[in-house]
Amino acid sequence: MSAEDDKRLAAEAAVAEVRDGMTVGLGTGSTAAFAISALAHRVATGLKVQAVATSKATARAAQSAGIEVIDFADCPAVDIAIDGTDEIDERFWAIKGAGGAMLREKAVAAAARRFIVIADGSKRVARIGAAKLPVEVLPFARSFVVTKLAALGAAVSIRPDYRTDNENLVADCRFQSMADPRALAAQIMSIPGVLGHGLFLDEVDATYIAARGTVARLERDERSD
Ligand code: 5RP
Repeated sequence: MSAEDDKRLAAEAAVAEVRDGMTVGLGTGSTAAFAISALAHRVATGLKVQAVATSKATARAAQSAGIEVIDFADCPAVDIAIDGTDEIDERFWAIKGAGGAMLREKAVAAAARRFIVIADGSKRVARIGAAKLPVEVLPFARSFVVTKLAALGAAVSIRPDYRTDNENLVADCRFQSMADPRALAAQIMSIPGVLGHGLFLDEVDATYIAARGTVARLERDERSD
């Protein structure tokens, strides 16, 4: 079983939760792409759902697979959202945004009654913090924000030749360690010109993580810690 097989298995397990009439949040990235395929298969065999997309690429992929996509701007709540991650730890804390969609992803995740992270086993870590933390930055405030992020201890690089779907920049931040992600999230959001970041600390309700062909489901409420 390859990592791609594990992504697909995790995605299919999460999509099995979708029921008729739901509004489904669709994530961005290679794992989320498997969820789009799995959902499209269920739609083709009679499931009736609407979807909101966390990126333009996801909207295009979902529409061309036959899934009805509605505008999240008209959608106050989502029944279930399914998305990938760059890291996820046992506290259900995640770093997302390698694909640059973290701002829209967080809005959809927050709107979701149930937010499910899907991943292959390589994304599971004891404690988040080794992955680069992407920060969405207003271009107008680029230098100021980069200086402030560096003052928080980050090695910062602006993603070259890249704009988000919101026409903003991404500052990829490498921290030597991330002792207190919650405090860090608050410090980052307090910088004027920061629009969002990839720390997901409160959003994840459940995870489906597949390793070597076996999918494990974990619920936030059932954690032992
Ligand atoms: C995009 C994301 C992705 O969900 C995350 O980067 C994981 O991507 P992949 O499934 O391709 O490894 O947050 O902004």
